[in-house]
Amino acid sequence: MCGIAGYVGNKEALSILINGLSKLEYRGYDSAGISIICDGNIKTVKKKGRISVLEEFVKNDKINGHIGIGHTRWATHGEPSDKNSHPHTNTDGSISIVHNGIIENYIKLRDDLISKGYKFLSDTDTEVVVHLLDYYYKKDKNIKDAVFSTLNQIEGTYALGIICKDYPDTLIAARKGSPLIIGVGENENFIASDVPAILNYTKKIYLLDDGEVALINKDLILIYDKNKNEVKKDIFEVTWDMESAEKGGFEHFMLKEIFDQPKAIKDTLLGRLKNDYINLDEIKIDKQILENINRVYIVACGTAYHAGLMGKKFIESLCGIPVITDVASEFRYNNPIIDNKTLLIVLSQSGETADTLAAVRLAKEKGARILGVVNTVGSSIAREADDLLYTLAGLEIAVASTKAYTSQVVSMYLLANLFALELGKISKNDFENVKLTLEKLPGYIEDILKESDKIEKLSKEYINIKNVFYIGRGLDYFICKEGSLKLKEVSYLYSEAYPAGELKHGPIALLQEDSLVIGIATCENTMEKLVSNLQECKARGSKILSITTENNNIIKKVADNIIYIPYAGEFITPILANIPLQLFAYYMAINLGRDVDKPRNLAKSVTVE
Ligand code: F6R
Repeated sequence: MCGIAGYVGNKEALSILINGLSKLEYRGYDSAGISIICDGNIKTVKKKGRISVLEEFVKNDKINGHIGIGHTRWATHGEPSDKNSHPHTNTDGSISIVHNGIIENYIKLRDDLISKGYKFLSDTDTEVVVHLLDYYYKKDKNIKDAVFSTLNQIEGTYALGIICKDYPDTLIAARKGSPLIIGVGENENFIASDVPAILNYTKKIYLLDDGEVALINKDLILIYDKNKNEVKKDIFEVTWDMESAEKGGFEHFMLKEIFDQPKAIKDTLLGRLKNDYINLDEIKIDKQILENINRVYIVACGTAYHAGLMGKKFIESLCGIPVITDVASEFRYNNPIIDNKTLLIVLSQSGETADTLAAVRLAKEKGARILGVVNTVGSSIAREADDLLYTLAGLEIAVASTKAYTSQVVSMYLLANLFALELGKISKNDFENVKLTLEKLPGYIEDILKESDKIEKLSKEYINIKNVFYIGRGLDYFICKEGSLKLKEVSYLYSEAYPAGELKHGPIALLQEDSLVIGIATCENTMEKLVSNLQECKARGSKILSITTENNNIIKKVADNIIYIPYAGEFITPILANIPLQLFAYYMAINLGRDVDKPRNLAKSVTVE
């Protein structure tokens, strides 16, 4: 994910910026760059690749200066490349900016600016900000007013670091929806998107709030609210060490990423849910194309495959189109029936999984249209797909996928609704409800995450359990498959997921007193049947834990423990049921002393078949 570092003070800015950016490396990035005011002019160097590539380039350049901004980019708009890297400058190079976040209305702003004669050099959404700032600066003749005028035009999220040649002592910062802090030093001040970037220099920080703009000199920091009124803030003392700062105070990346999910979903939905349509501008599948398709495959591996199973159900239910799901390693060797009327939907966090990529290539060769649902911008699958839906979950570091999965499922739901709208299968009213529910989803997840202490406590009751069976029906069964995979990956406990009605056809023979059966119970039409299946397990002495919606009284008859989640409709409630399962897997692994972020035998990106 993108990182920002900025400096103003008496020291050489270059080494401080490089040092700050390197402390943000753990977040992942694909390019890096800096701008420094040097002999009265802004000097910018930006390179695709690691910070060491940038360092190599600036090594022999005399970039001496006491004010500057730096950035590590994790591509969202436009592939990783020198030209798309930050900082971005206005045409005469007198203003330079770095940006984290997404400018939602950048296409409209870019068109307006082009009509005013501005020339764009990159594919990024960010570049509109610097040209807009140039436009207002020429009009307002004052950088502070120009920044406010610019921000008034921008929709979306941003953390911005800005320098202007005419203000050689002033670093400017602005924030809405993306984190940005100001580090307070002695005769020097800093900005950063995250604490590690400044921890070597100061532990005193101001936390910028949404809508605020700061003008920062080496010995003066002025912070303004969105109405340009000066605000006074308390200094916040950082007490974490470097390692915990990188994990945002969480003990493990897996836990951090579980807690990242409300933001990951917000980002995935940002700018996509319009009043009566879904804005997925990299998907060009209209009614005519959909009606011409004779077969839809969804293909992926592991957790992404589980998200694909949810996608199958969404598309079949909402669009009435039959869908075949397959794991990528099987699909390729099953002689799949593919022609130029086939749509292949592939899901992948990394966009580099060897089997999934091979499935893409095979299907493409046979004429299929490829729709990629991918998290990593510029990855192989993203480049080779005909249509693209970025999941925008942000960088996922823990090997066990959590926030990428949830974002994949939400993306599949968006896609199914997009197709259903195109085909006229759902009304505007239905879509209004879909929109309202999706908008509430991050808040529902936050509510569940607030219960994490209870789930931690509960997990301790099951410390001696030897095997865990997850059972459910309908969408709940697919959630069971993901819950079971997560548990075995990080805790190494033996675990299986079964459709609840299937248990008595064989696996029930395994149930004993040291077995735990987790019943996912959100599907209302099969609730009674699920309860009977849980009774069958209880009768064999197994412990019963259920995840269900508030007010489900019938489950109380059978479950020893219940975790309640909010009810958010037929399609979204199962997504919520997955959150306690992620926490349960995490805490079980902790109880058993496992290395949760790096489970044995597993790799984050599986680039071998
Ligand atoms: C499990 C997990 C894996 C991946 C699978 C596909 O937690 O992360 O099962 O889902 O290896 O990876 P991507 O999505 O990168 O194609």
